Amino acid sequence: MSTESQIAVHWREEEYIQPPPGFIGQANAADPALLEQFREENFPDSYRAYADLLTWDTYWHTILDTSEPPFWKWFAGGRLNACYNCVDRHLAANRNKAAFLWVPEPETELTRTLTYQELYTQVNEVAALLRDLGLREGDRVTLHLPMVPELPVCMLACARLGVVHSQVFGGFSGTACGDRIADSGSRILITMDGYHRAGKLSDHKAKADEAVVTAAKLGQQVEKVLVWRRYPDRYLSAGDMVEGRDVFVDDLLPRHRGQRVDPVPMPAEAPLFLMYSSGTTGRPKGCQHSTGGYLAYVAGTSKYYQDIHPTDTYWCAADIGWITGHSYIVYGPLALGATSVLYEGVPTHPDAGRCWRIAERLGVNIFHTAPTTIRMLRKLGPDEPARYAYHFKHMTTVGEPIEPEVWRWYHDVVGKGEAVVVDTWWMTETGGFLGATLPALQPMKPGSCGPGVLGIYPVIYDEEGNVVERGSGRAGNVCIRNPWPGVLQTIWGQPDRFVQLYYGRYCRDAKSTDWHDWPFLCGDGAVQAADGYLRILGRIDDVINVAGHRLGTKELESAALTVPEVAEAAAVPVIDELRGRVVEMYVALNPGKEPSQEIEDKVTHAIDQQIGKIARPHAVWIVPDMPKTRSGKIMRRVIAAVSNFADVGDVTTLANPEIVEKIRRQVQSAK
Ligand code: PRX
Repeated sequence: MSTESQIAVHWREEEYIQPPPGFIGQANAADPALLEQFREENFPDSYRAYADLLTWDTYWHTILDTSEPPFWKWFAGGRLNACYNCVDRHLAANRNKAAFLWVPEPETELTRTLTYQELYTQVNEVAALLRDLGLREGDRVTLHLPMVPELPVCMLACARLGVVHSQVFGGFSGTACGDRIADSGSRILITMDGYHRAGKLSDHKAKADEAVVTAAKLGQQVEKVLVWRRYPDRYLSAGDMVEGRDVFVDDLLPRHRGQRVDPVPMPAEAPLFLMYSSGTTGRPKGCQHSTGGYLAYVAGTSKYYQDIHPTDTYWCAADIGWITGHSYIVYGPLALGATSVLYEGVPTHPDAGRCWRIAERLGVNIFHTAPTTIRMLRKLGPDEPARYAYHFKHMTTVGEPIEPEVWRWYHDVVGKGEAVVVDTWWMTETGGFLGATLPALQPMKPGSCGPGVLGIYPVIYDEEGNVVERGSGRAGNVCIRNPWPGVLQTIWGQPDRFVQLYYGRYCRDAKSTDWHDWPFLCGDGAVQAADGYLRILGRIDDVINVAGHRLGTKELESAALTVPEVAEAAAVPVIDELRGRVVEMYVALNPGKEPSQEIEDKVTHAIDQQIGKIARPHAVWIVPDMPKTRSGKIMRRVIAAVSNFADVGDVTTLANPEIVEKIRRQVQSAK
């Protein structure tokens, strides 16, 4: 097991907590027959219920085509358009309903409402613009946008044309964006001049210039950079527009005013978007999600697990730059015709009351956030929620394990005892939830996400592939035994890596077209209680989960190694009260180089430059050498134990056991 799950915080099983009666009465999933419908013997036909939440141009003929394992095809033969399903089909009944409520930063700016009709108009105009730039079905476009309505508008415009969007989290650096542009083969980048975050105006366009240079070095020419202009009267580096390459969207859009673009009916298995994620090697993985399966899956899980009704005001306080935002700010809620809140900034700025003011003002009744945010708000403003007159019926958490005492504050103080809490466990690759409770039908258990969701049948295997029995208290590698509509289709451009990473470990027969032979490796360690509830311990691969964000140790180390003085680098997770984990970098220097503050700063700067400030290490330790196995492998596990003041275990078999004590003295005395 990896360092991440080894240092997982262990807590005992908690008691069940029942949902409030008022919630049960109104829930979308209140009838236990739904659980029966999704029993394993009904798989895969059970997923017809999810497909039927969508409008199909051509109805599918085969629910699950397994002929080319593990490249499963859901709803084969079907055609649909994701944009049509999220926008057009709601116009007849709900033209003037808010699709998005956008809360910008600073707070003094007014909330902007985008009705379904306005969204339709804007999406069509942007689709017309993209079409006139020559974009066609299957082309890729990289978006590097902050939390502004232009982001979902661009995503939906791409979807309307059958163009594959690849949104790179706005906080990522230009270099990280350039890597992803090159990997996806995008010739168009869409960005914005600047945006506000925690009181600072960030010059975002400058990152696009770096991204284009990085992509070009990797062999990908960006022909056009489309720049949304938010601050026309301020000088940002958008002033340095590159002639022939960079264009302001607001200069182009007037030519497309009022234009309409027919939504292209796409095959169910056509890719809808790429979402890059970190993994074991330095190269980011472009997780490819499908049109029909993905959209059906996020619509179904939004309906039953987030309990979204058309009358709800739903707020997922994540960033659309991550999978949570794609699935549960944009595609899931819009497929259901809901009102989805977008907000810009951070939950703690200008103070710990921001979220609760937004909830009160907009009448939010479903709230979705991450344990890191909950921990921060609990620390900064434990009594703040009571000061605001909002009422949540439903709250969700996602991204990391939530400690039971944090869960309780969320339930009692944020939820005021009126709301259910649904702990949703899943990952970029899975499109939507894997483990959670059906809020009216399954009780909550703080610290456990719940059983597999409808149609998901989890199993825990040990290293040899034996099943770890439920209730045994033993941890193992959690897998999903069956395919499901939201699962990634492949890693963009790396099909072999896809097969090997997710199916290689436990596949029983590589020739088999029977899905039973292809368990999907989720990448987490977990314990399953006798009731089937899962307690997630953390990643088993070389990924560190910082505040719910996945950072690849290899990416961090490669960045550190670009500093000329650095010979070796190791990134390790360290437990942090607020963010769950933080990263500490250990580096050893080339011969003749002396440790200095300057080198530490260079390492931090290199990580800022190549990945982004979200990956900035909490500490950089320059050590005389790294603990290594006899074959020369750096023992991150041992370093992490030292950094966490934990037991390092038996180190006598290392090539250089004496270094462990030296590092321990250096680091622990300085902490
Ligand atoms: O370790 C698990 C953790 O986040 C990882 C997935 O990260 P990412 O692909 O960035 O997606 C985050 C949003 C879905 C998982 O492998 N994780 C996610 N949700 C939970 C969780 N750990 C514990 N409990 C959760 N609810």
